[in-house]
Amino acid sequence: MLETLEVKTQTGSYPIIIQEGLLVNDNSPVPQKPANVGRWVVITDENLANLYPEVIENLVTSKKDIIILPPGEETKTLGQVEEVLEILADLKLNRWDGLMAFGGGVVGDFTGFCASIYMRGIAWIQIPTTLLAQVDSSVGGKTGVNLKSGKNLAGTFYPPQAVWIDPLLLNTLPDREFWGGCSEVVKYALIQGDGFHRWLVEHWEAVVAKEPETIGQLIGKCIACKRDIVVKDEKEAGLRKILNLGHTAGHAIEKLTDYRVTHGAALRQGMLFELELAFKMELIDESQYRQLANLVHMIPVIEEIPGFSLEDMVLAMALDKKNRKNNISFLLPHQSGSIEEVGLTGEELLRIMKKC
Ligand SMILES: NC(=O)c1ccc[n+]([C@@H]2O[C@H](COP(=O)([O-])OP(=O)(O)OC[C@H]3O[C@@H](n4cnc5c(N)ncnc54)[C@H](O)[C@@H]3O)[C@@H](O)[C@H]2O)c1
Ligand SMILES: [Zn+2]
Repeated sequence: MLETLEVKTQTGSYPIIIQEGLLVNDNSPVPQKPANVGRWVVITDENLANLYPEVIENLVTSKKDIIILPPGEETKTLGQVEEVLEILADLKLNRWDGLMAFGGGVVGDFTGFCASIYMRGIAWIQIPTTLLAQVDSSVGGKTGVNLKSGKNLAGTFYPPQAVWIDPLLLNTLPDREFWGGCSEVVKYALIQGDGFHRWLVEHWEAVVAKEPETIGQLIGKCIACKRDIVVKDEKEAGLRKILNLGHTAGHAIEKLTDYRVTHGAALRQGMLFELELAFKMELIDESQYRQLANLVHMIPVIEEIPGFSLEDMVLAMALDKKNRKNNISFLLPHQSGSIEEVGLTGEELLRIMKKC
């Protein structure tokens, strides 16, 4: 299966190529690199460097051009960016060279950020290796690192020259990362409505079995959904916000657990919270609520999330730095099939959620 999706941006357009065996299969040639770029440096993490040494070496002309970072969120710092930029300068990488991000969302966000500022911006290619990165973070051009004050507070909008996706890379992905990515998949189904719901329910067994053809189709559907939203709102002025469905409550759970649970596990719980809110606000009726919640329940719970009081949840959401005018913003499903933004104060939210 080969699928190519084109993403249009204000500065041009780039292809997203999805193909099983695109990189992992020994017989497949490395995909066509943009012709106007000289030398490529790969940035990856230790786990991937151990799992896929040949795949990574195939991407560069010399092993010197591979930079291996410690895995995990702690890598997304300005200090680490400085170290990598110094390495690029030592390697004498110039404005006509490029970076390749081979890894999950951490490596992707980090590499894109480095590419956007090294010599005022050089080319880059994303090769996402987690389900979350394949369906979400590799599309839309957001790059960045964390500050002590909060996640992703320093960053740029900087689309890559290409995204290469090989679903076979997911065969080595730990279960908790796979199911975490599935939360984002279900989020797209909630946003897109009936057609995607039905497809997902019908193909769920094949998804659980990580059947490569089905996983490839699934990735294509999610990317098409995100692409259609981000091309209309590249810099998140409005429409793009609907991708935050489930994330207001999800972020609160991440904060309350001190980020010990994966983003996906918190998002699963966050979607259930927000669907209940939509029901209690009578934006959706009971049968719609059950139908949507059942989709979320298809994702198994593999990480224990401690129970929080409603008051703790509301407080965590009320303190979110991204709130405007003391209102907590939610993106909630509406019975018409659209997603609506609703702003509530902490007191309003408590009162609604306490309704039986
Ligand atoms: N830019 C965006 O639009 C956007 C959107 C969503 C999330 N993000 C960011 O993405 C990051 C999370 O990304 P993630 O969930 O991919 O986590 P991650 O990059 O930390 O990867 C998770 C773990 O899986 C390992 N791994 C990756 N691919 C593997 C494979 N094929 N086989 C075995 N192990 C593998 C990694 O080494 C790591 O230990 C966060 O920093 C988040 O802020 C960005
Ligand atoms: Zn998310």
